[in-house]
Amino acid sequence: PRPLVLDVDTGIDDALAIMFAVRHPGLDLRAISCVAGNAGVDRVVANTLAVLDTLGAGEVPVARGAQRPLLQPARDARHVHGADGLGGQNLPASQRTPYDTDAVTMLRRAILDSADPVTLVPLAPMTNVALLLRTYPEVVDNIAEIVFMGGAISGGNASAVAEFNVWHDPEAAAIVLDSGLDVVMYGLDVFYQVAVDPSTYGALAEDPDPAVALAGRLLAHSHHVVRSDPRAAGGGLIGDAGAVCAVAAPDLVTLRTWPVHVELAGRSRGQTVVDRRSIQGEDAVHGVEETGPPIRVAADVDARATRDLFL
Ligand code: BDR
Ligand code: CA
Repeated sequence: PRPLVLDVDTGIDDALAIMFAVRHPGLDLRAISCVAGNAGVDRVVANTLAVLDTLGAGEVPVARGAQRPLLQPARDARHVHGADGLGGQNLPASQRTPYDTDAVTMLRRAILDSADPVTLVPLAPMTNVALLLRTYPEVVDNIAEIVFMGGAISGGNASAVAEFNVWHDPEAAAIVLDSGLDVVMYGLDVFYQVAVDPSTYGALAEDPDPAVALAGRLLAHSHHVVRSDPRAAGGGLIGDAGAVCAVAAPDLVTLRTWPVHVELAGRSRGQTVVDRRSIQGEDAVHGVEETGPPIRVAADVDARATRDLFL
């Protein structure tokens, strides 16, 4: 199985992603780091541990990370994920204890202790990952790739042009994109495409397996939130879980290598500017200035196959 580390702000769709990562036989979930995003970091830790309980997961180290972005204050997403970050699920408090170091130290250990290079999957503002790269740059030698949910080729959700995870900590996202690592961006363009229809999530919600039932309820909440967004496929979005599906089965997404930079100033702060002029290979446009590091961007997704894999 492929060694994997998640960075989360659990979060409805982060919970779905954790479920998928724990239960997919091809993935070996080594650690989960938590960061402020959809909810405050303590709430994110509590939610993450409670989701692992619901799954009946074995021991997975879960560490508390950054309480706020590098430069700006934290701003939660309670209008999407509810005040508790999980759409009011009220899961029983976990008896698990968080890992005994901060998230950056845990991530360093998880990455350097691995015999095989680790895939790092941020599904949240990338504050922890940026701090990791700045504090322990030696980790890059054992990171296979970074597959992050965030950004967009066009159009945002937190602002007209910025996607929430990048908008919440644009400097951190810029550090990660500029790291020189092999980076895959699973942005809003594909995020909005993978949905589970109401009769399917309704059936999941009745499943005797408590984790499957929780997934059904979370998908119902997700559907309610995006129901009037014309960009979202009809149904409950699997969201962040789609990025983990793309790690388990890379053929599900069409990746194109384009220069991407994060806008750090003005009203478009937090936008991922994807330069589609610079198509590589035969289509190359000559004379185009480099506008950012080359990032592999998910330009399209096989939505049905991704949904089926998730289910
Ligand atoms: C992203 O922001 C969060 O609300 C979701 O969990 C997802 O990671 C979507 O913009
Ligand atoms: Ca998230």
